[in-house]
Amino acid sequence: MANNVFPPAETAYPIDNAHIDSLEAYQTQYAESIQDPEAFWATVAERLTWYQKWDTVRDYDFVNGEIKWFEGGTLNACYNCLDRHVEAGHGDATAIIWEGNSPSEDKTFSYSELLTEVKKFANVLKAEGVEKGDRVCIYLQMVPELAIAMLACARIGAVHSIVFGAFSAESLRDRINDSACKMLITQDTAMRGPRSDIPMKANADAAVAECPSIEKVVVVERTGDTVDFNTSRDIWWHEAMADAEAACEPEVMNAEDPLFILYTSGSTGKPKGCFAYHRWLSRLYVLYISTALRALMKEGNTWVEKYDRSTLKFLGTVGEPIKEPEWLWYYNIVGEKRCPIVDTWWQTETGGILMTPLPAATPLKPGSATFPFFGIEPVILDEAGNEVEGNPATGYLCIKTAWPGIMRTVYGDHERFLDTYFRRFPGYYMTGDGVLRDEDGYYWITGRVDDVLNVSGHRLGTAEVEGAIGQHEAVAEAAVVGYPHDIKGQGIYAYVTLMTGESASDTVETGIKQAVRQHIGPIATPDKIQFTPALPKTRSGKIMRRILRKIAEGDISNLGDTSTLADPTVVEALVEGRR
Ligand code: WTA
Repeated sequence: MANNVFPPAETAYPIDNAHIDSLEAYQTQYAESIQDPEAFWATVAERLTWYQKWDTVRDYDFVNGEIKWFEGGTLNACYNCLDRHVEAGHGDATAIIWEGNSPSEDKTFSYSELLTEVKKFANVLKAEGVEKGDRVCIYLQMVPELAIAMLACARIGAVHSIVFGAFSAESLRDRINDSACKMLITQDTAMRGPRSDIPMKANADAAVAECPSIEKVVVVERTGDTVDFNTSRDIWWHEAMADAEAACEPEVMNAEDPLFILYTSGSTGKPKGCFAYHRWLSRLYVLYISTALRALMKEGNTWVEKYDRSTLKFLGTVGEPIKEPEWLWYYNIVGEKRCPIVDTWWQTETGGILMTPLPAATPLKPGSATFPFFGIEPVILDEAGNEVEGNPATGYLCIKTAWPGIMRTVYGDHERFLDTYFRRFPGYYMTGDGVLRDEDGYYWITGRVDDVLNVSGHRLGTAEVEGAIGQHEAVAEAAVVGYPHDIKGQGIYAYVTLMTGESASDTVETGIKQAVRQHIGPIATPDKIQFTPALPKTRSGKIMRRILRKIAEGDISNLGDTSTLADPTVVEALVEGRR
């Protein structure tokens, strides 16, 4: 834990522009937001345009996982993102600056231009039979069409479900089928560096072959590579848009109507479809880097220093704990000691940032997400579920009261929603993260306390990776744990037991990696595979991951109590075979 503190005055952040310009101002407003959350959030909601005001600000019950905000109110998220700015005379302001794969490739859209594109695509959706409440899967890289498609869905009340462009055909298929999407929006091939070698349309074709709910596939021409085209099902984006009308009234939506589904990895089984609701606006990923930082730092300073950084105002990080050396490099070299680093902590489930420094107000400590955002009440619980008072404190990071962005359910599986977030500590939202609160009240996220890995800022459930490894015909059983990795934050260490008669070889190892790429995607490829005759299990058959974690981390001096293992000699074999 770093002890350096960087007061806001040490940065050149233009304090005159700040909404919150001192730590005292933050503390006062934070206290108000916690004392009267309904008044606080009602004031925030007043900033949106409502067709009809709400009856009740907040109504929630963390025991039954029932959460409602602004019930009775009606609005449209797309209208609030675009129309109202255009109507207020800001149509010429820039809404999107898109940079492609090379610095020479970019596009900008003003609010008016974006609104026109969104209305046109909303008409394409309608013409192809998409109605309010239907699910639309979006499997695209970061291209402007992604934002246009999201907003168009919101405009007509369709529910969008975005699947990360690097996922495999099977991952895509499972997500489409889980929420029975009617349409898929994808692109021909995807760029990675200078090459267009991710076959997204081909992946989409393979997925859709096993997705009975998909009626139409819209294809964005990104690279111009030749792809298979099924004329009775597939539609080129540019052709459909050429004929589309640019008039489309937004649908009047209830505040609690669904807006989007976002799948994320959990500690067990298949990914969860997190449901977010209409009054929550689209999240914009303004300049965030996390894992990239470690990779960039290794390349030396010249790559950064050869570019003009004078227009940078502040720097963001998200997704994983950042260590002091990287923080200092980011601050000193990239930000030239002028730019505050805004380390934001949040989760797919939270629908927005829950902890963050405020650039002009919060003295920074390298590696800490600092303090809670307004209206967010973090608590630290011990094993028994008691709130740990005072500072310093460590334990499970939980949130005590509901905020508007929190997910509402796991799509189609409310029990799983309760099991994952609310049952371990009744009455609290359990984040799954461990945390330390230091003597000054700063929060330091220490990483996941459940079986979720964080590889290069991507969440993967150990069960998901184990399932993919198990698809290889030679594999009898697998257990996966994370270990510290210089670049990725966490690497994937897989322990694999083979079927009787099979023996470990480079071919089997390559085959296992291939199976994981095919079933999940390259991001989940194990970094290390250790073949082992058996896994350490308790007498009741539960794998003791604690031991596997220690061996993977190289911390074999104290493996703790192994007396409850069905066969304690397994551990020796594991230690000997360590990779
Ligand atoms: C981790 C990505 C430390 C954490 C935003 C959380 C972080 C998980 C931070 C959510 C941060 C996110 N510092 N750890 N600033 N931000 N995390 O849903 O473990 O992909 O639970 O959302 O990332 O991952 P998710």
